[in-house]
Amino acid sequence: MKIGIIGSGVVGQQLGLGFLRIGHEVKIGTRDTLKLTEWKQKAGANASVGSFADAAAFGEVIILATLWGGTKSAIESAEKDNLKNKILIDITNPLDFSQGVPPKFAVEIGNSGGEQVQKWLPDTKVVKAFNTISAYIMISPVREEGGDPDLFIAGNDENAKKQVTQFAAQLGWKSIVDMGDISQSYWLEAFAMLWIQYGFKFNNWTHAFKLMKK
Ligand SMILES: NC(=O)c1ccc[n+]([C@@H]2O[C@H](COP(=O)([O-])OP(=O)(O)OC[C@H]3O[C@@H](n4cnc5c(N)ncnc54)[C@H](OP(=O)(O)O)[C@@H]3O)[C@@H](O)[C@H]2O)c1
Repeated sequence: MKIGIIGSGVVGQQLGLGFLRIGHEVKIGTRDTLKLTEWKQKAGANASVGSFADAAAFGEVIILATLWGGTKSAIESAEKDNLKNKILIDITNPLDFSQGVPPKFAVEIGNSGGEQVQKWLPDTKVVKAFNTISAYIMISPVREEGGDPDLFIAGNDENAKKQVTQFAAQLGWKSIVDMGDISQSYWLEAFAMLWIQYGFKFNNWTHAFKLMKK
């Protein structure tokens, strides 16, 4: 499939490599294509780079991986029509860095990042996923200690969630937990805050969550 990635940071670049590894074509969108020169060389022939609109038009499935403060603007640049009827995997976390780090949680219950993205794009199938883990674990979740972590997802469209579950399994995730509709994004984003707080407190960025069941 063709995967369009809106966002050129570590998440966009890592997931780009992951989706290439499992046999897809990838185009990353950015406002500054030059900064992806090295990534493109490393990524190979099935990888390309363009504007946010280029990536959105290219992708049959879209990954949204932008800084929260720039997300609305990036979506506007990507153009709604390019995203219509497509699955969009929303990895953003609504963080406010205006007072430094650790960042503050920037949304309220009922108005999570995932819900806002779904409201901005009513004809797009938004699935919140991959936001509760580090970019480096997204495409290689298997841990040497502590067992395999869980991946939590949420979204309104059941088929879209099935497709995202399939992608995640191909990337190596063994346990993917569907938490329900897009309103559950709030809890996934709040959960990411716990991950972030832990990272700053213990200066550790490779941790991940595991749901223990009897
Ligand atoms: N880093 C992680 O391990 C991790 C884990 C889970 C979730 N997340 C979430 O995933 C998202 C991406 O994180 P990241 O660390 O890869 O990168 P990031 O630095 O948070 O975001 C980089 C992307 O945001 C775009 N951007 C920034 N300001 C913008 C603006 N004003 N208008 C339009 N676009 C703008 C950049 O555009 P250009 O390409 O044009 O520069 C770039 O593509 C974030 O929401 C983050 O919270 C990150």
